[in-house]
Amino acid sequence: TTYKLLLLPGDGIGPEVMAQVERVVGALRELGIASFETETDLVGGAAIDVHGKPLADETLARADAADAILLGAVGGPKWNGVAYEIRPEAGLLRLRKDLGLFANLRPAICYPALADASALKRDLVEGLDIMIVRELTGGVYFGEPKEITVLEDGSKRAIDTQVYTTGEIERIAHVAFDLARKRSGRVASAEKHNVMKSGVLWKEVVTKVHAEHYTDVELEHVLADNCAMQLVRRPKQFDVLVTDNLFGDILSDAAAMLTGSLGMLPSASLGAVDARGTRKALYEPVHGSAPDIAGQDLANPLAMIGSLAMCLRYSFGLGEAADLLDGAITDALAGGARTRDIVGPGAKVVGTAGMGEAVITALKAR
Ligand code: NAI
Ligand code: MG
Repeated sequence: TTYKLLLLPGDGIGPEVMAQVERVVGALRELGIASFETETDLVGGAAIDVHGKPLADETLARADAADAILLGAVGGPKWNGVAYEIRPEAGLLRLRKDLGLFANLRPAICYPALADASALKRDLVEGLDIMIVRELTGGVYFGEPKEITVLEDGSKRAIDTQVYTTGEIERIAHVAFDLARKRSGRVASAEKHNVMKSGVLWKEVVTKVHAEHYTDVELEHVLADNCAMQLVRRPKQFDVLVTDNLFGDILSDAAAMLTGSLGMLPSASLGAVDARGTRKALYEPVHGSAPDIAGQDLANPLAMIGSLAMCLRYSFGLGEAADLLDGAITDALAGGARTRDIVGPGAKVVGTAGMGEAVITALKAR
């Protein structure tokens, strides 16, 4: 099978880290591990410069037709002045919304070679491997009404609304339980049923989906605030952690700091499984376009390469190829290759291309 990949490098360091993914794709093809047809298009500021908007309709159509999308990053100071509706981030939001990418998977993995770069002590994070499953298209970031009104006395009132339906909670719960089956078989669900109605429904629906379909998986409910504390206190107690859009945003950023650097963190955003058994999916590093280091061969490409590994695993069912690529990342780090963001004593400092090279060398040696 040849898989159709749409590459959207975007802005800043996006094109630099994407270039390394293209080299890895070439190596996977050369080694006979997996074969891809790639197409490249514009998103974010790069698309604004050409089309006057951050996601052209024909790009969206290409995204819809692709088997999976890899995205670098969008944004940068050059586009700070553009209208809110056509800012670079709006291109990414439109992709997520129009493709129905409701499930955001953010692994927090602590590589042994980087355990000392964590915000926590080595023994708390060594071997850490958490998968945070965040609901991405609902909740308080999207609920209506959402407004600021001026009151009679001239002061203002801001309203955001948290909305969740049974269906929205069910589908994200299924994603989390299915993932847990392929991992250690444990799910923790975080909400605040003690103070929020949406938390009451969240807990009720997750409990029901579990009882009806996944009694082989262990389910634990945890209050989101306690969850934040536990992530810092004893993070290895978690395997799959499922939560809503707002709590997921915060908890996954906190978990990110357990692993070392923003330059190490991949992510996947998945849609519903359709009648043909396929699903829309977009893979991107967690980091942004890093304008401060763009164009200097300083960016760490591992988050982007790790996003390709997630693509192999979750879009194409190529678990072995994904393990091989993840293993090559581990080997490259164990061999001492370090971009500047993860540098430590005794390490070899390499640039973006050098790190890509180290991964490809490790891949070929496996
Ligand atoms: P950022 O993630 O771009 O950078 C934060 C810090 O981390 C910077 O010091 C940067 O140099 C460093 N960093 C990030 N990725 C790195 C990598 N791969 N290797 C080495 N160092 C890395 O976040 P920031 O500075 O808040 O935002 C910059 C721009 O990116 C803004 O325009 C923002 O809107 C956009 N952004 C885009 C995102 C996306 O495309 N999904 C996500 C976050 C921010
Ligand atoms: Mg965030």
